[in-house]
Amino acid sequence: MSNIHCGRDLNADVKAALSMCDFTVTDSNVAALYPKLSGDAFIIPAGEKSKNTETLNAILDAMQKRGIKRGDTVAALGGGVVGDITGFAAALYMRGVDWVSIPTSLLAMVDSGIGGKTAVDFNGIKNLVGAFHSPRDIFINAEFLKTLPEREWLCGDGELIKTCLLTEDAFKLLSSSLNAVFDNDIDGIYPLITECVKIKNAVVTADPTEKDLRKILNMGHTVGHALESIDGYKLSHGEYVLKGLMTEAAMCADVMDKDFYELYIKLLKMFTSPPLSTSGAVSGKASIDKKNEGDSVSLVVPVRPGKITEVKLSHDAFRARYDSAVKILRSE
Ligand code: GLY
Repeated sequence: MSNIHCGRDLNADVKAALSMCDFTVTDSNVAALYPKLSGDAFIIPAGEKSKNTETLNAILDAMQKRGIKRGDTVAALGGGVVGDITGFAAALYMRGVDWVSIPTSLLAMVDSGIGGKTAVDFNGIKNLVGAFHSPRDIFINAEFLKTLPEREWLCGDGELIKTCLLTEDAFKLLSSSLNAVFDNDIDGIYPLITECVKIKNAVVTADPTEKDLRKILNMGHTVGHALESIDGYKLSHGEYVLKGLMTEAAMCADVMDKDFYELYIKLLKMFTSPPLSTSGAVSGKASIDKKNEGDSVSLVVPVRPGKITEVKLSHDAFRARYDSAVKILRSE
């Protein structure tokens, strides 16, 4: 269980958090935008291309050279890439040191910065090598969103919508805050962020290593990850999650409440469009998903807000349902 601290005062809250830490990792974008906060942080180049074993090695090397000891604390100041790789370095160094997550993007605030899924990409496969190592503290500060690029907002919206499906109250809040989500309105979206943080922290505390309950956080991700990999990561992760949420719902409409299904697809259509990839390509990629067991492909879908279920499909059934889902989505 991580200690969560939500705040709006960058200087007071984030400075205090960083002052508890002995080593900070950030990226070139965050360092340029927040030079005072970054201080003597170790800076990695911004972007997914940094999430590899070479950068991991460079972080570990810097930790050793700066004399980090087992009782010290490492901070990740940045978005998903910084959090994932810094958390993994913290998991490995001296068999594990404490780390603090200070997410600066919407995606990291509502999803990747919480729950200790740390990793790097390996041999072209996203997050293939990693460890579960939860941050000791998480500092959510919505003021960072003032400098978030437009595209990164959409990326965060995918995980935000996914998390809001997990409880009835969160979905109601989302439905009444859609204007704030569209307008990137920080004041309007802040209650949604804090709600998502609370929900995600509760899920990962109950099932930190994804034995059972945590699988609900994979909603939209089987198709989303497959599309991402087929496309060569042209869009952001959250944009593929949005396509995955929409396609998986249309593939499993039979297990969803009809009224909710219609409302949900309408909502997702405001954010995304149906995928263009073929069922053969998507099924090929989905079959190597880490979440599968045996020969089936697993999809996680909302029956209605607050009630999530897993649907296991054979590869033939997956392809048939994908084809008919995409056809329906394109014709609506
Ligand atoms: N992003 C899904 C999880 O943390 O389990």
